[in-house]
Amino acid sequence: MNKIPFLEPNPARLSRLVKELEAIEASGVFTNYGPVNSRLEQAVTDEVFGSGQCLTVNNATVGLMLAIREGAGEALASGQRFALMPSFTFAATAHAALWAGLTPLLCDIDADGWASCHAAEEELLARYGDQIAVIVPYATFGNCIDLERYGRLAERHGVSLVVDAAASLGSLDAKGRGFGAGSRWPVVYSMHATKTFATAEAGIIHCADAERLGRLRAMGNFGFGQPRTATMPGFNSKLSEVGALLALAKLREFEPVVRHRAKLADAYRAHLPGWTFQRVVGQRLAYQFMPVLLPEASADRRDAIIARLIERGVSVAKYFSPHLAEQIYFRQSCVISDLPVTNAISRRILSLPLFDRMSADDVRRVCDALLETEGAP
Ligand SMILES: Cc1ncc(COP(=O)(O)O)c(C=O)c1O
Repeated sequence: MNKIPFLEPNPARLSRLVKELEAIEASGVFTNYGPVNSRLEQAVTDEVFGSGQCLTVNNATVGLMLAIREGAGEALASGQRFALMPSFTFAATAHAALWAGLTPLLCDIDADGWASCHAAEEELLARYGDQIAVIVPYATFGNCIDLERYGRLAERHGVSLVVDAAASLGSLDAKGRGFGAGSRWPVVYSMHATKTFATAEAGIIHCADAERLGRLRAMGNFGFGQPRTATMPGFNSKLSEVGALLALAKLREFEPVVRHRAKLADAYRAHLPGWTFQRVVGQRLAYQFMPVLLPEASADRRDAIIARLIERGVSVAKYFSPHLAEQIYFRQSCVISDLPVTNAISRRILSLPLFDRMSADDVRRVCDALLETEGAP
């Protein structure tokens, strides 16, 4: 029986874009916010968000570095040093804050949506208040989070906000808009090969504040606020024209991809009644994979369960276990608050396969294999 991979990267086929590649070669413009890049930024703005502006970056980690550094701004000089973020996220988020000169302050998550816990954030803002420069919530696994609340929180505490929405491109908020639409603060999305919006390496920042986005654009071009003159911190975060072409081609085929994945997610929920899935916030989640919690009593046997699934031809993963506070480097470089929910979720999490070519029968096979090894909760 054929194997079921955990993920299967499915970028648009460059080999079918020969004419477009020849046009890039003929233009002599290969990067530096070129014409293909401009078309991509406009198309994503129009088709995904419907308003505001977008800025491409060469990956979301770099996008987060850029946005967090911009958000920290003067706060760095005045000694405000923390970036408040959940421990239940990917290494990139904490690395980005550290590269921007801040110390990640790791907070707990809520028990059903698995994003930063509001009470924990409030408590840390009260305790560390004037030392927190930027709040960096994560829209966990592509789920939506309440950006209006975050806008109010940032204003009330006089801090900046950068949203890590690495897996949320294609997710729809409660009003049916692309998650992040209209945000005055930068929202950063990944277009990594393994994401639902698959390219090779790329990312995009959406922000309704044109001035802020312009600053990010200049920072990403060596801090050149004036012609070939650095007027602000900077580095090179630009996306190549070939990278932009790959993303434009993905955009053309994206909507059916997200719909298909949502159907597969429904099938997972139907085949695993009684299992604990993430609570979906918003109208649609652009599933990258299918996270589920193992029954509490099985958590200690997770690695054995994974090994047995592999024997049955099913590959799975365990995002995010270890979570940030469990990783050697972040234990040394971050400030860690109490994380009871994070620890409880992280030890039970199992990430089940999802990919564009997957069928409803494949989902049934994964679920049957899981139920055979584990039984119903
Ligand atoms: C939560 C989170 N933030 C940031 C990133 C970084 O994205 P990229 O691979 O585009 O740098 C990822 C990548 O998987 C992620 O999962």
